[in-house]
Amino acid sequence: MKITSVEFAGAAARPGTYPKLPHPEIAIAGRSNVGKSSLINRLLDRKIARISATPGRTQQLNFFVINNNLTFVDLPGYGYAQVSKHDRAQWQHLIEDYLVNAQHLRGVVSIVDILRGPEAEEEALWEFLAYHHRPVLVVATKCDKLKRSELEQQRRLLTAQVKDRPPLLFSAETGMGKEELWQAVLALV
Ligand code: GTP
Ligand code: MG
Repeated sequence: MKITSVEFAGAAARPGTYPKLPHPEIAIAGRSNVGKSSLINRLLDRKIARISATPGRTQQLNFFVINNNLTFVDLPGYGYAQVSKHDRAQWQHLIEDYLVNAQHLRGVVSIVDILRGPEAEEEALWEFLAYHHRPVLVVATKCDKLKRSELEQQRRLLTAQVKDRPPLLFSAETGMGKEELWQAVLALV
C-alpha cells in the first residue's frame, strides 16, 4: 500500500460528534496500551497517532484520512483499571455509540496482545460486533516479543480461541504482518 497523504481529520470525545467524512472507515479497537496507535503509525509509515507511555491516554476517537479515500479511527482503549467507574462507562458508551451508528464503518481491527491473548473484554467486543453485523479482523500484536517457536505456539492457541476469525500476526516494532494486514483491510473497504 503506497501512502501518499495522511491527514488528522478530527476527534470526538462525545457520542454523535464525529467528523462527517465521506470515505469508508476502519476502526482500531483494543485494550488500553495494547498498541493501537503504534499499529496505525506502522501501517501509515509515519508518527501521526500519539503513542502513550502511560496507558489510557487516548480518551477520544481520532480520525485519520489516508490518501483522501479511507479513514482510520483510533478508538479509546478499554479495560484500563486505573480509571473511575464513571469514566469507564462513558468511554464504553462512546465506543459503542460509534460502532453502532457510524455510517461509513466497514470493519473493526480488534487488537490483542500476543502474550495475553483474548480476555473477557475481547469476547464481549466480538459478540457485540457480530450482533451489529460489523466485520472484525483479529490482529495479534507485539509479536516481536516472542521467539519463533513460542510465536507458533501462541498463534495456535489464539487460532483456537478466535474460531472463525483466523488472527493476523503483527509487530509495530518490526513491521511484521504489515502487508497482510493492509490486504485484509483493503478487502473490507
Ligand atoms: P492507549 O491509546 O493508551 O489505549 O494505547 P495504545 O493501544 O494506542 O498503545 P500505544 O500504541 O500507545 O503503545 C503502548 C506501548 O506499547 C508503547 O510503549 C509502545 O511502544 C508499545 N508497543 C506498541 N506496539 C508494540 C509492538 O508491536 N512491539 C513492542 N515491543 N512494543 C509495542
Ligand atoms: Mg493510543
